[in-house]
Amino acid sequence: MTAILEKTKSQFADLGVSTGKEIEDLFRQLTELADTEQSKVITDPEREEFRVRWLGRNDSIRARVKRNWLETAPKEMRRWVGSYFNSFSEHVETGYSYIKLAGEILEADRPEDLSLPGVLRPIGSHHLIRQVFQQIEDIFVSIGFSVVEGPEIETPYYNFEALNIPEFHPVRDDMDTFYLELPNAAAVPLLLRTHTSPMQIRTMEKQKPPVRVIVPGKVYRRDNPDATHSFVFHQVEGLAVDTDITFCDFTGTIDYFVKQFFGPSVKTRFRPSYFPFTEPSVEFDVSCPFCGGSGTAAGGGTCSKCKGAAWIELFGAGMVDPAVYGFVNYDAKKVSGFAFGIGIDRLAMLKYGIDDIQVFFQNDVRFLRQFP
Ligand code: FA5
Repeated sequence: MTAILEKTKSQFADLGVSTGKEIEDLFRQLTELADTEQSKVITDPEREEFRVRWLGRNDSIRARVKRNWLETAPKEMRRWVGSYFNSFSEHVETGYSYIKLAGEILEADRPEDLSLPGVLRPIGSHHLIRQVFQQIEDIFVSIGFSVVEGPEIETPYYNFEALNIPEFHPVRDDMDTFYLELPNAAAVPLLLRTHTSPMQIRTMEKQKPPVRVIVPGKVYRRDNPDATHSFVFHQVEGLAVDTDITFCDFTGTIDYFVKQFFGPSVKTRFRPSYFPFTEPSVEFDVSCPFCGGSGTAAGGGTCSKCKGAAWIELFGAGMVDPAVYGFVNYDAKKVSGFAFGIGIDRLAMLKYGIDDIQVFFQNDVRFLRQFP
């Protein structure tokens, strides 16, 4: 390495080079030496020493090369030497600017007083909605369900038609929703999904029975925000289809889930309901976890959570309507199954005694910190 340094003291004529390749080689050796020295620089004085040695105004290596090689090179070679000299010079300057910057960063980070306590860097935590998703996933995974996710932008076919909700069906009004503005030539309209149920179809299209999945995700509806409504909220869809699934399996599974989620003392009941893609359809209620299903608050008077009803509506569900199997090429005579769609935000509100759904979306750390 030092041989190349010795050469910086010689004038161009004494270097014994005559071709572009040989000149390039000299500058390459010099650049490598600068890189090696630069990589060893750690302290402030070393940084300054590097600058003076390589880039200093008078007797630096660069100044010497300029004086001895560039300025003494014959006219016809000077253009070559000049261009290699410039590249070499820029390379060393850039290298120096990096180590200078690294030094400044280290300096900025260095505490004035080493005995002061360190900087506190708070660690984030999962949002309560994410925690509830996780709890639900754990319960269903433990009984053989798997977790799948699907697109938040859907076609009307998956969001409605394949779920037995044809165009102009009045149920669509309940979900009055967000369609995307697309160029005129777009093949199909697209909308933000109004529920996680389209994943029932997508899952059955992909796989033959047995199917046991849950689908956590975001859904969107053009609902006006209030204490229990948001235009974006969260659901977990559930779907189980096999050759021998009965209504008993359905209620047993839901009952198991609710008891795992709220605790063993809660009771469940179901009431008739209507969804175009389940038949029969039900609404599941849970005995009010706040008043123990009595309708009376601990201190007397009416329970404010269930308004004295003793039951709280939880979610919609039902046995998969045979018409749906027609859309996914399942044989409705051979298979049966159940599906449910849980509104996660309201479930979380119920479990954690939260009385306004909007707090989930405001991301106020005073709220978030209560659920580490
Ligand atoms: C559905 O969305 C059906 N897809 C559920 C289903 C799935 C039924 C499978 C049968 C089989 P519904 O529109 O009732 O159903 O909504 C389900 C839950 O979402 C409600 O119980 C409620 O908890 C929640 N929800 C509905 N609208 C809102 C809203 N604007 N804000 C917050 N939560 C909402």
